[in-house]
Amino acid sequence: MVMRTFDGGAGDVDHNAIGSTYAAYRRPDERIAQVIAEALGDARTVLNVGAGTGSYETAAHVITAVEPSPAMRVRRPAGLATAIDAVAEDLPFSDGQFDAAMTLFSVHQWSDAEAGLREMRRVTRGPVVVLTCDPARVRDFWLYEYAPDVLETEARRYPPLDRLAAALGGTTTLRSVPVPLDCTDGFNEAYYGRPELLLDPAARQACSAWSFVDDRARQAFDASLRRALGSGAWDEAFGHLRGRPSYDGSLVLLRATP
Ligand SMILES: C[S@@+](CC[C@H](N)C(=O)[O-])C[C@H]1O[C@@H](n2cnc3c(N)ncnc32)[C@H](O)[C@@H]1O
Repeated sequence: MVMRTFDGGAGDVDHNAIGSTYAAYRRPDERIAQVIAEALGDARTVLNVGAGTGSYETAAHVITAVEPSPAMRVRRPAGLATAIDAVAEDLPFSDGQFDAAMTLFSVHQWSDAEAGLREMRRVTRGPVVVLTCDPARVRDFWLYEYAPDVLETEARRYPPLDRLAAALGGTTTLRSVPVPLDCTDGFNEAYYGRPELLLDPAARQACSAWSFVDDRARQAFDASLRRALGSGAWDEAFGHLRGRPSYDGSLVLLRATP
């Protein structure tokens, strides 16, 4: 059984808290959009599960959006499809109904990722595309030095990639998705070369990982990163990232065909 949260949403996050800054700080990035578009191929009908505010939905597809959180559904722009209130683990569609399906930055929040992906496979004739993070690589990011609890949480939340591939079945390809230096989609690694931006509490709020640590941990992070930036220690260790055009971190795209 899938647990719904007190506000009618699903997953392990309070989207009432996150939703207020999400659309402003998590704007779809055109270079990541291109990777997703390539993976979807020539699909016409596309299911978007955990669709949120509609990032990466384009007019090139006929989109069916599934989004359990009322706080996210209400923030979808007017031109996009109205999202259906459902969860990945129990999709209200018939077998093979869609040409393709995608789930982006979402699978780590589901109560049963494998069940959700089996459902996506069931209702999709062609590729199922999953944009997620590799938990084995999450701690490699410099943020681990300043906010270890945040990335420990992330490493625990993201399901191992082999489990996702097994649930999808068929043939799965995996590719690393480079994060551009000026990435507009503000997940933590998007700030790899712009550390000052992570000092903005609203930017952090748009990344659900930060909601799992308390105010003290957030203040400790703020103080230690400010100190390292002020003393030059951050630049000494990581300053080379300020000029790196893209970063191969933990962001990956799985594409599964039957
Ligand atoms: C970080 S947001 C990503 C939203 C959007 N895909 C994007 O790229 O901006 C994760 C979304 O997954 C949704 N979610 C959580 N649990 C879910 C579940 N079991 N089934 C479907 N969606 C779920 C949340 O409500 C939230 O909107």
